[in-house]
Amino acid sequence: MIEANLEELAVSAKARIEAATTVEELEAVRVEVLGRKGALANVSKEMAKMTPEQRATVGKLLNAAKQALESVFDEKKTAFDSAALSARLESEWVDLTAPAPDPARGALHPLTQIQTEIEDLFVSLGFTVLDGPEVESDEHNFDALNIPADHPARDMQDTFWLEGNWLLRTHTSPVQVRGMRKLGPPLRMIAPGRVFRNEEVDASHEHTFYQLEGMMVDKDVSVAHLLYFMKTLLSGIFKRDVMVRLRPGYFPFVEPGFELDIQCLICGGSGCPVCKQSGWVELLPCGLVHPNVLRKSGIDPEEYGGFAFGLGLTRLVMMRYAIDDIRQLQGGDLRFLRQF
Ligand code: DAH
Repeated sequence: MIEANLEELAVSAKARIEAATTVEELEAVRVEVLGRKGALANVSKEMAKMTPEQRATVGKLLNAAKQALESVFDEKKTAFDSAALSARLESEWVDLTAPAPDPARGALHPLTQIQTEIEDLFVSLGFTVLDGPEVESDEHNFDALNIPADHPARDMQDTFWLEGNWLLRTHTSPVQVRGMRKLGPPLRMIAPGRVFRNEEVDASHEHTFYQLEGMMVDKDVSVAHLLYFMKTLLSGIFKRDVMVRLRPGYFPFVEPGFELDIQCLICGGSGCPVCKQSGWVELLPCGLVHPNVLRKSGIDPEEYGGFAFGLGLTRLVMMRYAIDDIRQLQGGDLRFLRQF
């Protein structure tokens, strides 16, 4: 009777162990059958009430059942363990030969790129790169450049005035003054930098933009020198021949003064919104340094002469990359900046 029960218990326990789908389930069956208070332990307790003969037979059967079930259990447990191990190995697998992800690398702003190119070009031509303050004196920004207080040319540039006679420089030309006074003639200098105008901002006007000033002072400097350097500059920037034209232009600090225009690179001269349908873009105002400007910085105009130019760096960048809204350049929009 008890032998039949034991047999049945062993068969059903084996089936349950084999059917377990998780380690937890398997463990539950083990506790229930093989545990200290499990089904087999109960049978072994009941053996106390048996005759010695019965005890011998049942004891044998019990041991056999226990061993058989333990080995089924161990087999199943091993299968679970090795499945878990390979799942873990799979999840922790790292391809050591895979290329590392690209670090987020920045790039120079297009204005900085063009500025650096022009600096390199002029340095190779013997020019010094100078820097000047953005907060300037009235004297450097205007007077020393032959624009006295009552001069109508002061109205050409809408100025951000600060307290006293200080202002935000309206152009990079005051660095000419600093260069002449500090270094004296002969002089070859350029001065890139930020300038400010009290202007209404729109697609083609900014209150803050960039210029690059240039100046050469030496004996017998003529318009031919000016033109040579300007053409070298332009072919260096555009890496091709650009059509230029020279018109008379008025700036108090040069005489004669010129507007050097380039043929519009966006439309090739046929007319577009960037060149206001004219086919030409004003790019490079320039001229021969006015004697008053030399004199005010302690240089004798009888002995020395020079040329100067003021390149609109911001406009140049817009031409080069066909950017039609000046506000993009300092807007800080990464979608725009990542193109460069
Ligand atoms: N400073 C002038 C401006 O911002 C540009 C300029 C014109 C600079 C003629 C020069 C020059 O050096 O010769 O409008």
